[in-house]
Amino acid sequence: MRIDRSWLQSLCSWTLISIAALSTGAAIEIFEIGSLDAAEPQTRDLEVRASSQCPSSYQSDNGMNFTIYCNENIPFSDVFQPFAVSTMEECMERCSRYWGASQGCYGVVWNQNTTDCWIKNSTISTIGIYPETGTHAALVPRSQLSPLDTSCPFDDLSVQTLSSGEGFTIHCGKVIGGFDDCFQEYPECLSSPFIGYWHADSLQECMRICAQSHPLCLAVSWNPGMEIGYANCWPKTGSGNAIADPATGQGVLHTAVVTSIETINTTCPSDNSYTTSGKTFDIHCGQLNTGTNITAVHRANLTSCLDTCANNKQGCVSVVFDSTLQGGFQNCYLQNTTSVIRDNANTTFALLTGTSIPTSTPSGTNSPASSGGSSSSKAWIAGPVIGGIVAIALIIGAFLWWRKRTAQHKQQEYSLAPANHYSPTELDSSQAAEMGTTEMGQVYGNQTGVKYKHQSQTAQPPQELPT
Ligand SMILES: *[C@@H]1O[C@H](CO)[C@@H](O)[C@H](O)[C@H]1NC(C)=O
Ligand SMILES: *[C@@H]1O[C@H](CO)[C@@H](O)[C@H](O)[C@H]1NC(C)=O
Ligand SMILES: *[C@@H]1O[C@H](CO)[C@@H](O)[C@H](O)[C@H]1NC(C)=O
Ligand SMILES: *[C@@H]1O[C@H](CO)[C@@H](O)[C@H](O)[C@H]1NC(C)=O
Ligand SMILES: *[C@@H]1O[C@H](CO)[C@@H](O)[C@H](O)[C@H]1NC(C)=O
Ligand SMILES: *[C@@H]1O[C@H](CO)[C@@H](O)[C@H](O)[C@H]1NC(C)=O
Ligand SMILES: *[C@@H]1O[C@H](CO)[C@@H](O)[C@H](O)[C@H]1NC(C)=O
Ligand SMILES: *[C@@H]1O[C@H](CO)[C@@H](O)[C@H](O)[C@H]1NC(C)=O
Repeated sequence: MRIDRSWLQSLCSWTLISIAALSTGAAIEIFEIGSLDAAEPQTRDLEVRASSQCPSSYQSDNGMNFTIYCNENIPFSDVFQPFAVSTMEECMERCSRYWGASQGCYGVVWNQNTTDCWIKNSTISTIGIYPETGTHAALVPRSQLSPLDTSCPFDDLSVQTLSSGEGFTIHCGKVIGGFDDCFQEYPECLSSPFIGYWHADSLQECMRICAQSHPLCLAVSWNPGMEIGYANCWPKTGSGNAIADPATGQGVLHTAVVTSIETINTTCPSDNSYTTSGKTFDIHCGQLNTGTNITAVHRANLTSCLDTCANNKQGCVSVVFDSTLQGGFQNCYLQNTTSVIRDNANTTFALLTGTSIPTSTPSGTNSPASSGGSSSSKAWIAGPVIGGIVAIALIIGAFLWWRKRTAQHKQQEYSLAPANHYSPTELDSSQAAEMGTTEMGQVYGNQTGVKYKHQSQTAQPPQELPT
């Protein structure tokens, strides 16, 4: 089933006009609306469209750069049949996330008439390029896919501890099958072969990405040769018995499994208020706030989470503290707005005293004034007709919205700044400075039923990673 986008767009603009007309009570004659609708799509200049649909350069969200050839086609080298994506940018995003059996994506071609996107393999080159209006090609400079040092950066089975306090056991030359998830940091959830997202230049960087992922990341596999593609750092929600040798063609992979994590204080404080830095917070155990997250950091207990909120300069008014770490290792969520408060056994919500809590669902949606009533007599016929159209359009709109919601992950509001996506070093070191020392060496039995043996007696002692 395909829905014609331009038809929908015109219906939507039509609807907006109708709603506007209704809510202002203005009289509108039907033929005017009709003619507006008919005139709109045809008046757009083709040249303008072509250039606006082909960017002059592009860097994907995970850091892959493209050299773009607008109105040029490069045939052959197709990895598989084309698929439809709405923009050239989206086609390049797919390329940056493509996971192949033995090589990644080296370029794309996107046809703006059909919206078809072709993923190209390493045989692509500019040799066969030819001009074609409405078709745009983009090549990945080879240097970005040239293999990094594939030797194992740490001793096999050694324990490496990040400055954030998480201990990882290294499995050289191994990969974890499965345990993939759409982590909240991914800009969009895609299915195979585009499930991955992160690129890392080192196993250490990949481990840091894991420590910052939501929900809780319990392992990573890293592919320095990028045989699987540019998205070579794969956070995993577990590892189970799935630590294995890579398949032929995947090249070298190294794996790091979270084996120690500090114990989080799960006790709800007996006092229901806490004062720090001159600010008082009301504590609500077993609740959470669905408001806007500014950021998330790792904290061992609620009080140090509240200390962080009190000293935050971005308008922190409340926190959600997740003592189970289910949502991620960064378990202290600082928030700048309050919204619907819900019960949740695993989290504690604390609010700056005096901050108002909305009593019902926030009134963000402007419901169309269906009882707009007092329109002038001239519009008596337009009313019911437009009303019907509005109803249909709202249903379609709601359907599209729902589809978008389900297809696409909620945009994460406390994102690591896009520029930092592939260099979390700064984040990590600043966090280390903030946190000071943390107690380490606890056995971490996680919630998914996977048991982790504490390795430090048998393996080498934990080492602080070089920065
Ligand atoms: C992509 O281009 C930007 C800006 O020119 C540069 O800073 C970055 O290092 C490039 N990325 C890669 C992977 O080469
Ligand atoms: C690249 O694609 C072409 C055409 O689909 C195919 O013949 C070729 O074997 C592919 N090369 C590699 C290395 O996968
Ligand atoms: C796209 O459409 C334009 C206008 O109809 C046409 O000139 C052009 O050849 C088409 N390009 C492709 C690649 O289909
Ligand atoms: C856990 O937190 C509670 C309440 O804040 C406190 O009374 C208790 O001493 C803490 N336990 C540990 C082991 O720190
Ligand atoms: C804020 O973080 C919490 C905890 O992970 C999460 O449940 C919630 O969806 C986030 N809120 C938003 C608006 O992203
Ligand atoms: C809350 O924080 C988010 C993310 O930092 C920001 O975009 C938003 O404008 C802030 N909202 C308020 C009300 O301060
Ligand atoms: C909370 O954690 C901090 C830092 O880890 C520690 O200094 C403090 O004693 C803890 N507080 C409680 C109540 O456990
Ligand atoms: C709370 O955590 C437990 C185990 O950690 C989990 O089984 C349960 O589903 C969680 N409850 C909620 C409401 O998230």
